[in-house]
Amino acid sequence: MAKAVGIDLGTTNSVISVMEGGRPEVIVNAEGGRTTPSVVAYKGDERLVGQIARRQAALNPAATLFEVKRFIGRRWDEVKEEAARSPFKVKEGPGGSVRIEVNGQDLAPEQVSAEVLRKLVSDASAKLGQKITDAVITVPAYFDNSQREATKQAGEIAGLNVLRVINEPTAAALAYGLERKGNETVLVFDLGGGTFDVTILELGDGVFEVKSTAGDTHLGGADFDHRIVDWLAEEFNREHNFDLRKDKQALQRLIEAAEKAKIDLSNASESSISLPFITFDPETRTPMHLERTLSRAKFEELTADLLRRVRKPVEQALSDAKLSASDIDEVILVGGSTRIPAVKRIVQDLVGKTPNESVNPDEAVALGAAVQAGIIQGDSALGDIVLVDVTPLTLGVEVKGGMIAPMITRNTTVPAKKTEIYTTAENNQPGVEINVLQGERPMASDNKSLGRFKLEGIPPMRAGQAQIEVTFDIDANGILHVTAKEKTSGKEASIRIENTTTLDKSDVERMVKEAEENAAADKLRREKVEKRNNLDSLRVQATQQLEENEGAAQEAKDALKAAADEAEEAVRSEDDARIESAQKRLEEELRTFMTAQQAAQGQPQGAQAQGTRVDDDVIDADFKAAE
Ligand SMILES: Nc1ncnc2c1ncn2[C@@H]1O[C@H](COP(=O)(O)OP(=O)(O)OP(=O)(O)O)[C@@H](O)[C@H]1O
Ligand SMILES: [Mg+2]
Repeated sequence: MAKAVGIDLGTTNSVISVMEGGRPEVIVNAEGGRTTPSVVAYKGDERLVGQIARRQAALNPAATLFEVKRFIGRRWDEVKEEAARSPFKVKEGPGGSVRIEVNGQDLAPEQVSAEVLRKLVSDASAKLGQKITDAVITVPAYFDNSQREATKQAGEIAGLNVLRVINEPTAAALAYGLERKGNETVLVFDLGGGTFDVTILELGDGVFEVKSTAGDTHLGGADFDHRIVDWLAEEFNREHNFDLRKDKQALQRLIEAAEKAKIDLSNASESSISLPFITFDPETRTPMHLERTLSRAKFEELTADLLRRVRKPVEQALSDAKLSASDIDEVILVGGSTRIPAVKRIVQDLVGKTPNESVNPDEAVALGAAVQAGIIQGDSALGDIVLVDVTPLTLGVEVKGGMIAPMITRNTTVPAKKTEIYTTAENNQPGVEINVLQGERPMASDNKSLGRFKLEGIPPMRAGQAQIEVTFDIDANGILHVTAKEKTSGKEASIRIENTTTLDKSDVERMVKEAEENAAADKLRREKVEKRNNLDSLRVQATQQLEENEGAAQEAKDALKAAADEAEEAVRSEDDARIESAQKRLEEELRTFMTAQQAAQGQPQGAQAQGTRVDDDVIDADFKAAE
């Protein structure tokens, strides 16, 4: 059985890991990185994923997609604001969903995330020497039902069998707790690139029991970056009367510089930001530059309200777990943004403890996901680990007066199942409509509607006589399934979900097919580029030989030179057959030439010319060639 992997599909960075000899380990990507930027760029009909996509962002802002996790499983009206500050085009899609428009094509966020997953898995398959198909994928604990479902669909679009979707802080606790003995209550504080989660767990004897979870799926490092972006843009505007945020390329550079400054300020008290040629004066067409120094104190002032926002979920999680700060034995910091000194200070202040820094904040989530994958696959080294998690948000239905009637309340252990009976309000009512809601507010309209379920085909009956049994069933992934049955007649009413933003089955199937075709096309393209690059490096080698051996017989030199010239032409022609034959010819000529030279110099024969392989750097080569 091929191994199952654990994947932390992050807003900014993703990590993949696997169990090796009873311990979870990170699998490095093709570029040698332990984390892969969750960035996908579209260049012509080519896709770039990871570091290579991130690197070209400033040159290709409209087609370089990042932080797409902020949009996955969301309704358009939830993300309008975030969409507005994005350098690429995010817009409303069918049924109030979100779509990203790239080169005139509308992409679902699931499809973009699938590209990241596909790269992680294909690199890992190559590293492990086996085709990976099974994976555990993590999501922020505070992700609602649609966001979980959409994440699972992203996995499916990437051709994965998603064994389980688990909560990121729970995964981090698994990675942490694996090494610990004894009972303890831990608080996981996870502030990443786009989301914030707080989870309280009790650990002991291989049992990991989540007591409560709270969070904010609209808060992360990117928000801190944007405060710096806004500050820089406003200062610049005041001076030059020009809003840099209106220029996509300038905006992308501002975002990158802001993040860099923020990271600097985690170690230094001051950071200088320098963006030469940030734009041109619209009237005089002279270049304009941006130079600023940002102090840590100013940064904390700019982000004061964001820093305040981390307090509430911590307090909420404690109160839901019926614990006070002094009951917490350890505080575990996860997520890159916990490196911000002010964040650390607040955590310390809230819980009254120095955070435990024994886990790697960038890797713990993926490591824990690999542990969960190991548990599901029955890895004997793990022993009997029991994981008990909860649902983060209350699920209910809309009832009279526009109120929400809770069916399953937040922090209920999952899996969970609850049945309620509903009835009709009118005589001979053929159907009812039930609005399924998720959220904590008393009024239905203030919560997220997961979908409207229409129960149709109810036989004629007097008002109040029908008994419609509605069952809410949350699986181990935290995903809700709803079934309904009309009981008096024994007939199952048909359920139609309307107004949901998740993809339907046929969409997913189509996207799987497209993704596979794209992957195949990408592979061909890469092979083509690789062949071209191989030939080109061989040509360089031949040229060097010619330079080093000026004294060789003219005839030999001419033959090699001709083969090298043909190679150059072939590379330029992009004609596969021609490249192939040019490669053969040049290899042969080079071998003959070198053998003759060695013989002439009295060296032992048999040394062979070899084309330089670029396997280790295929993607890089691909990128350069495509520029
Ligand atoms: N030294 C640092 N100081 C401040 N912020 C940092 C530092 N290092 C990384 N970050 C920030 O951490 C964020 C990325 O964190 P991480 O990789 O944990 O997020 P993620 O897992 O991609 O996101 P999420 O968990 O929200 O989906 C980025 O916003 C990055 O700028
Ligand atoms: Mg994360």
